[in-house]
Amino acid sequence: MSDRKATLTFSDTGKSIELPIHSGTEGPDTVDITSLYAQGKVFTFDPGFVSTASCNSSITYIDGNEGVLRYRGYPIEQLAEKSSFIEVAYLLLYGELPSKTELDDFNSVITRHTMINESLLRFFEGFHYDAHPMAMMVGVVGSLSAFYHDSTDISDPRHREISAHRLIAKLPTIAAACYKHNVGEPVMYPRNDLSYTGNFLQMMFSTPCEDYEVDPLAERAMDLLFILHADHEQNASTSTVRLAGSSGANPFACIAAGTASLWGPAHGGANEAVLDMLEQIGDVKNIDKYLAKAKDKDDPFRLMGFGHRVYKNYDPRAKIIREVCYQVLEKLADTNNPLFELAMRLEELASKDDYFLEKKLYPNVDFYSGIIYRALGIPDSMFTVMFAIARTAGWVSHWMEMLDDPKHRIGRPRQLYQGAGKRDYLPVDQR
Ligand code: SDX
Repeated sequence: MSDRKATLTFSDTGKSIELPIHSGTEGPDTVDITSLYAQGKVFTFDPGFVSTASCNSSITYIDGNEGVLRYRGYPIEQLAEKSSFIEVAYLLLYGELPSKTELDDFNSVITRHTMINESLLRFFEGFHYDAHPMAMMVGVVGSLSAFYHDSTDISDPRHREISAHRLIAKLPTIAAACYKHNVGEPVMYPRNDLSYTGNFLQMMFSTPCEDYEVDPLAERAMDLLFILHADHEQNASTSTVRLAGSSGANPFACIAAGTASLWGPAHGGANEAVLDMLEQIGDVKNIDKYLAKAKDKDDPFRLMGFGHRVYKNYDPRAKIIREVCYQVLEKLADTNNPLFELAMRLEELASKDDYFLEKKLYPNVDFYSGIIYRALGIPDSMFTVMFAIARTAGWVSHWMEMLDDPKHRIGRPRQLYQGAGKRDYLPVDQR
């Protein structure tokens, strides 16, 4: 740790407080304010945590100005081109790319955790047939803690590892069961002879009535989308998982909390909201009207899939997804897909608009992903479920990293209180 310091001086009293500065291996330095309240009896104020580093982490690095995203130091572009989701999950969890043996063993462990307890399948009978899949995901993922007591002692590193494996393995099985419930088809069991992603597609789209062949193009496109969505530093849902985990809550409850946070349209729910928006715009001739709505402060309409708290440049994942989008649509002989055409035209017009340029609003990971999901036969309501499957690898990695840190403490922010001062109770006949 360097001995550099920041000095905070109060203009009214002239009192000064020295605060240590910490530097990471990449990215902005941090001013350590842990002693601020003890020294100055003041809090910092940062709603939305725009300027706040909540933790140390070695998992993912983002440079929002340069459009850089690296998992454990590896650029997302290289992982997207050369890796697989199961290998990326290993990398996020353990910090290094696996050897061939390590990868085979990890793949085998995950494969053998893909089944879920038969009693869990009866949960789905309680949901209305048209329950939103994310509503079912939050409920069923949280209920996993009712089944796996043998791995919820979070003080035991081996329990933590088994729970992480179980969550990575079972999310696709639960996700596919949500879809089958919506379409009224029987749940399909995992097949151990298929890849992680091929197995997911099989559980989604096969039926007991005929053999199912995994389409290699769909498998590759889906696996790539899982890689791109696997982790993203301290985003809202990952921060939710960390905060829930900081109280000692069991891993299944923490991932259910992260799933709930991801569902919001400002976060992972944006991919479903983008398709709704494109359908609302309907035609290229309406784009100007909707760009004006997006810029109108009095209009709640926002351009879904645009903007990002960290990226003030093009989201590197959006660049990769746009290219895959074109390849998938071309292979499916659907290159004149009207939604893709509309999305590309919308991006083109927004990228020339001063409002979006000044506010550095570019397409993010959610802008094009829904178009690919649709082309792969995934219904809109399942788009955020896809995000949750992939992000589970990141969530459990951050949860493990936090609990591996012997100095970790329960997260308990303070506030700027602006409510009523002390006042005495008045009987109802005097109010
Ligand atoms: C994800 O954090 C992550 O890493 C998330 C994620 C991940 O992998 O985990 O990358 C995944 O969640 C991507 C983001 C998906 N969400 C959307 O596409 C929803 C639309 N985008 C916005 O709601 C917004 O851009 C956020 C939520 C993404 C970011 O919000 P911020 O950082 O709090 O920014 P802001 O709302 O304060 O906006 C800054 C300005 C505002 O104008 P002013 O008040 O300064 O005049 O930009 C405007 C906003 O009105 N603005 C938009 C806009 N996004 C921001 N105006 C129109 N359309 C938009 N999409």
